[in-house]
Amino acid sequence: MYGVKISGLGKAVPELEVSNDDIAKFIDTSDEWIESRTGIKSRHISTGETTTDLAASAAQHALTDSGLNADAIDLVIVATVTPDYTMPSTACCVAQRLGIKNATCFDLAAACSGFIFASEVAVSLIHQGNYKHALVIGAEVLSKTVDWEDRNTCVLFADGAGAAVYARSNENKVIKILTASDGDGSDLITLPSLTEPNKFNETQNTQKYMQMNGREVYKFATTAVPQNIQNVLADTGYTPQDIDLFILHQANARIMDSVAKKLDVDNEKFFKNLHKYGNTSAASIPIALADAKEKLKPGDKIILSGFGAGLTWGSMFIVWE
Ligand code: ACO
Repeated sequence: MYGVKISGLGKAVPELEVSNDDIAKFIDTSDEWIESRTGIKSRHISTGETTTDLAASAAQHALTDSGLNADAIDLVIVATVTPDYTMPSTACCVAQRLGIKNATCFDLAAACSGFIFASEVAVSLIHQGNYKHALVIGAEVLSKTVDWEDRNTCVLFADGAGAAVYARSNENKVIKILTASDGDGSDLITLPSLTEPNKFNETQNTQKYMQMNGREVYKFATTAVPQNIQNVLADTGYTPQDIDLFILHQANARIMDSVAKKLDVDNEKFFKNLHKYGNTSAASIPIALADAKEKLKPGDKIILSGFGAGLTWGSMFIVWE
């Protein structure tokens, strides 16, 4: 089995910053409510930037950070639930923008767990020897999927992309990944794909926008995530207290505080940047990792953990090089 390490990171967000106060100008909410319930203060919202634009920009930064040329990349996976097209895949569009030729390119949909699921696929394929350098990107333009008159969702979700280059390495730095799903919770967060009635099928879509049962998702996240982190560390010889940094999906600061408490870990070890970016679904973990990079030291033990629609969840244990 070949070793794998992260050799580059990048991120991109739309230019426009929208604060809680900006949103409170057009719906019945307040900066106080949003910040105290979620930890979010501001977010970046697309005024035209597409999922491909953000994904390609984050990927280019990751490629530059890794010191690799585009022709070294042989696998591109984009985790997204907001692709610009159902076909071609966002991954193919990113490859075209970056000049990546002959790579295997595809998208993967696992909502806010997308980056962890895509990383599991890429890392496994590198372990097996099929590929040498994989670009894994989480990219979303969620602002096009929320009803901007629904205060239950529009204050939470935002736009952005994060990317990581996974490279074959003599020493393995991706210690373990553990993902799971529970389709019984599939109705808790939904976003239908839009179809038009046709000659044979007159069914009209009744739901246009994303809908979420926030309270149930909160209960799921605060139960499944600490358990999953315990499970990913099982058999590694490490406990949660040995971990230097936890990077969870940036959905809600209260979820992170609850997970920290359940694991009996100081919540200062939980990286947070959701006050600046909101919930960017599949993009949130790689954006957070890119932001955390400057404070990481070689040998740091890191847990990345995602959870979201599906229901899906997963954690990844890495050692920083
Ligand atoms: N401003 C003001 N009031 C609001 C707002 C708002 N933006 N949104 C809801 N409220 C009101 C509700 O109407 C409700 O009022 P009522 O009691 O009169 O009915 C009250 O606030 C409380 O609502 P709750 O939904 O119970 O609020 P809660 O404290 O649970 O916080 C939240 C809601 C932030 C959504 C929380 O449940 C949460 O974070 N859930 C998890 C979401 C998550 O992690 N998603 C990740 C996956 S996303 C994906 O996969 C794409």
